[in-house]
Formats: sequence, structure tokens, C-alpha cells
Amino acid sequence: MATYTLPELPYDYAALEPVINPQIIELHHDKHHAAYVKGANDTLEQLEEARDKEAWGAINGLQKNLAFHLSGHILHSIYWHNMTGDGGGEPLAADGVGDLADAITESFGSFAGFKSQLTKAAATTQGSGWGVLAYEPVSGKLIVEQVYDHQGNVGQGSVPVLVFDAWEHAFYLQYKNQKVDFIEAMWAVVNWQDVAERYAAAKERADVLLLAP
Ligand SMILES: [Fe+2]
Repeated sequence: MATYTLPELPYDYAALEPVINPQIIELHHDKHHAAYVKGANDTLEQLEEARDKEAWGAINGLQKNLAFHLSGHILHSIYWHNMTGDGGGEPLAADGVGDLADAITESFGSFAGFKSQLTKAAATTQGSGWGVLAYEPVSGKLIVEQVYDHQGNVGQGSVPVLVFDAWEHAFYLQYKNQKVDFIEAMWAVVNWQDVAERYAAAKERADVLLLAP
């Protein structure tokens, strides 16, 4: 029995048009995300084998593979739910996401400042990476992280609540080399309800995450 499984998409392949075309969603979910799930499961098996054989020389490489594939699986699992064809705009109290709106203002000064920072963080990734809005439990605030690959440059303990995939596989078939255009277009499909739920859950569990008051 595999430890990790590929989650179903919460919508059909065409649900995010015109921001993301169906071909991208199909390949991204069915091939790329699936590969990370397989990679994480395979790596766990290889680690077990290495322990059985006391092949400790394999550990260094396998630990890197585990971080890469597992983080890829987790970020993509969040990514699909962060988007909806009915999304976009700003989080508003009238839509029941006032706590998130307040936290963004408190953490970044304004929604506009936050939006520009996250857009820039995602668009300026060198090579492959992500722009991430995360809840940081020590300060109790939201921060933006620019993630290398799926796992680098991350503050320990932070919980991703909104993730922008800036890998070429996320946009190249439609946007070619215009990564900035893709990231800017992404704001039109953000599912603020989902982001708000993730924020509330992370905040609720902050004390558990840190084993401190
Ligand atoms: Fe991706």
C-alpha cells in the first residue's frame, strides 16, 4: 500500500480557462504531480531497502529525493484547491474571509503591497520554484516565501496557505516565456475561501506546531 496517493482534481480540466488551458491542467496534474507522488513513495521504499542492507552511503541522495518529491506532492495538492473558476478579486469581510483580509493588511501593510510582493517573488524565481504565502507561527503573521524547486529557501514551521507554481510546466504551453504574464493572470483564479480556511486552520494549530503557548 503506497503511503501517498494522487488526489483528484476538484474541477475538470477546463475549469480555469482562460487563465490556464485544459492541456496544461491535464499534464500538470496527471503527469507532473503524479510523478512526485510516485517519487515520494519510491524514495520511502529505497530508504527502507537502504536500512535493511545498511547501505548508509545511499542516505544522503535519498534524503534529498524525499524532500523534493514529498514537497512537490504537498505543494501541488494545495495548488489545485487554491484555484477556482469563480475566484479572483480580493478577500473581503462580506465574503466571510475578513480574518484573512485583516491578517494580510496587518502582515504586509496593504493588500496591494502583499499582491506585488508575492507576484514578484513568484515571477523572479530563477530556474524552478514557487511563490508562497505562508502562516508563520512564531510571529503569528503571514509571510511570503520564494521557494527553490519545491523545498528550498523555506522557513521551518511555516504553513503554506496560497501557492503559485512558477515552474515552466505550469504555464509554458500557453504563456511561452512570459512568466510574469502568467503569474499576474493567476490572481483571477485565486480561491480566497480555500486560502482563508487554510489560514484559520494553521492559526488554530499554531501552538501545537511549536509545542509552545
Ligand atoms: Fe507544478
